[in-house]
Amino acid sequence: MSQHPESIAPHGGQLIHRIASHNQRHEFLDKADFLPRVQLDKRATSDLEMIAIGAFSPLIGFMEQADYDTVVETMRLANGLPWSIPVTLSVDEAVAEPLKEGSLVRLDDPNGNFVGVLELTQKYRYDKVREAVNVYRTDEEEHPGVKVVYEQGDVNLAGPVWLLQRDHHPQFPTYQIDPAKSRALFQEKGWKTVVGFQTRNPIHRAHEYIIKCALETVDGLFLHPLVGATKSDDISAEVRMRCYEIMLELYFPETRVILAINPAAMRYAGPREAIFHALIRKNYGCTHFIVGRDHAGVGDYYGTYDAQHIFDEYELGELGIVPMKFEHAFYCKRTEQMATTKTSPSRPEERVHLSGTKVREMLRRGELPPPEFSRPAVAAELARAMNITNYEI
Ligand code: ADX
Repeated sequence: MSQHPESIAPHGGQLIHRIASHNQRHEFLDKADFLPRVQLDKRATSDLEMIAIGAFSPLIGFMEQADYDTVVETMRLANGLPWSIPVTLSVDEAVAEPLKEGSLVRLDDPNGNFVGVLELTQKYRYDKVREAVNVYRTDEEEHPGVKVVYEQGDVNLAGPVWLLQRDHHPQFPTYQIDPAKSRALFQEKGWKTVVGFQTRNPIHRAHEYIIKCALETVDGLFLHPLVGATKSDDISAEVRMRCYEIMLELYFPETRVILAINPAAMRYAGPREAIFHALIRKNYGCTHFIVGRDHAGVGDYYGTYDAQHIFDEYELGELGIVPMKFEHAFYCKRTEQMATTKTSPSRPEERVHLSGTKVREMLRRGELPPPEFSRPAVAAELARAMNITNYEI
């Protein structure tokens, strides 16, 4: 329940809290050795965490079939509330078979630590190709999100969950700001409008430009990089966080920005994930959410602005968070500033635009991105992280 009635309502109206109380935790710990166990992968572990802290409000557990089906088919929960990505605990038939509906299941993280409890209400099989085609818009196994679906188990275990306890994030404890906390912080700062920014790449100047354009029209910025599971060739969260710290120190006013981690796993579902990302930021208390070019995309699976168009599939106001849509931004040599085709008359050859993917490729070749693309101090940090020594800034 939100203790701050003036802030925007969480999705579904109530901020979910599924962290075991002191007494519950002791009850669970007493039972731990007798409960059947399911080992979570990295994504399910972070989904458990997201549910528990209310970031996935109104979800209180892994989806039952009624929600799963309507989410896959219509981008809504069974009660009609918008929701675009299935949140499921998928296990092998052999793991599911002995588990009894109505019983408690102990959830262990990938290292075998007891992290949560599932009250198993339902087990069901599901159609992986239907999920792939509807959610990811492709059935190709090469798509990193589809690959996860194809490789996971055939049976979904559903029901309410509890996180055993809220541990400090091992790498970024000071940036672990859960939804109840971010909501309180926004209130303390007197921010009535807050824009959320999702990112999984080292911050570059196009990011900086759209963030700052957005910030010009709202009270505060919630810089919310995703630090859950990403595909193996994405830059590590540790390096990305250092880049954000550098940017904030040098190029942003301290009073207008909160940097916090988003513990979610990346799905690479493009348009559907943009909706998902927006709803998560609504739960953190944001009123606005940035959606730029090919948001949460990968390869050529989605059109440049598909992740913006999908917002039109809902009635105005239904999502309860305002998307701020930005065109493809670049450095314009003619006007000598960051711009988009909305604000610059430049010819294509006068534009410097690189994607996160191109920068990763450059770094891998030992090259540094140019200052029109990356702030030099950020480029230097990336070079350091990639062990590139022969560079100049
Ligand atoms: S994402 O997978 O998290 O979307 P990334 O970190 O690259 O990847 O992008 C973060 C946000 O910035 C997304 O909303 C994306 O659309 C936007 N974005 C990235 N690069 C540009 C660009 N050159 N122009 C406009 N928007 C961009």
